[in-house]
Amino acid sequence: MEKKLINGEIWKDISGNTIHAHGGHMLFWQGNYYWYGENRTGNRYVSVYKSNDLVNWEYVRDVLTTNSRTMEHRVRTDLRLKTDDGGKINIERPKVIYNEKTGKFVMWMHMENGKNYNQAACAIAVANAPDEELTYLGAFNPCGYMSRDCTLFVDGSEAYFISASRDNADLHVYRLTEDYLNVDALVNRLWQGEYREAPAVVKHDGKYFMFSSFCTGWAPNQCKYATARSMEGRWSMLTKIGDETTYRTQPAFFLNVESTGDIYYVADRWNGKDYNDSRYVILPLKFDADNNPVLEYHEEVKIIV
Ligand code: DGJ
Repeated sequence: MEKKLINGEIWKDISGNTIHAHGGHMLFWQGNYYWYGENRTGNRYVSVYKSNDLVNWEYVRDVLTTNSRTMEHRVRTDLRLKTDDGGKINIERPKVIYNEKTGKFVMWMHMENGKNYNQAACAIAVANAPDEELTYLGAFNPCGYMSRDCTLFVDGSEAYFISASRDNADLHVYRLTEDYLNVDALVNRLWQGEYREAPAVVKHDGKYFMFSSFCTGWAPNQCKYATARSMEGRWSMLTKIGDETTYRTQPAFFLNVESTGDIYYVADRWNGKDYNDSRYVILPLKFDADNNPVLEYHEEVKIIV
C-alpha cells in the first residue's frame, strides 16, 4: 500500500477535522498506529488518533483532559490537572510505551503550571489499552531535577526517559523502573551547557542515534545528532544534520515502520503566533554506507506500510 503526505499542510482526520497531535509520539499495536500528541483546544491536553496506513487517521478520543481521573501513585506528586483559578496546566511532548510485565500503556510527558515554565516537571499517566482514557499519576521532578522537553525509548528489556534539565543546559538520561512508573537511576548527563531540546532516539544497525534541537522557543533551529553503542554508555559529540532550521522543523519522534523496516523523522513545524495552526513534517531517515544518518527535505512523502 503506497500513500502520500504533503508536508507542512494542515492534516485532517477522516472526519475532516484538523489533527491535533503536536509534540507527539506513535505506538504500533496489533496492526494499528496510535498517534498521541498535544491538543490544546478546549479542555484537552492529549488526543489519540488511529491508522493502519499512516495517512488516513481516525480520531479516537481525548486521552488526557482537565477532567481525567487521577490516582496517587507516589508521595510528593502534583496531581492537579487545573490551576487554582480553574485554568489549564501545560502538558507537552506526551510519549507512550507498552509495558509487557504489567500490561499497561504508560505515558510520560512534560508538565508546567500553565503560567510559566518554572515547575519543569515530568508527569506520568497509565491506561489498560492504547485507545483508553489515561489515569493521571501526577507530576514530579525525576531524582529531584528539573525536567522539560522529553522523550521515551525502549531498548529490549530496559526503557529510558530522556529530558532537558538544569534550565535546559543538560540532557539527562534516566533508566526506568521495571513497571515504567518511575525513574530507577540517572545514567547519563549529556552535552552539558549545550541547551538541547526536543530529543528523539532511534536505533539502526546496532547503533543509537539521538537527535535534538537547540533551545529557541517555538522558532526552528539546527538539529544535531549524536551516537552511542549503548544508551548508558558514552555518547559522541554533536553533529549537524539537515539545514540551519532543519527544514523549519523540530523533532517530535522517530517512526519505525514494522512491515518495511523504514525509519521516518517525524517533526513539528510550530506556529509560535498561532499554536493551533502548527503543522507536521515527516521525512525518511536514510543512512549512508558508513551508517551516518542523512535527512533530506521532500515536499511529498510516500509511506509504504
Ligand atoms: C520548545 C519546546 O521544544 C516545545 O516543546 C515548547 O516547550 C516550546 N519550546 C515553548 O517555547
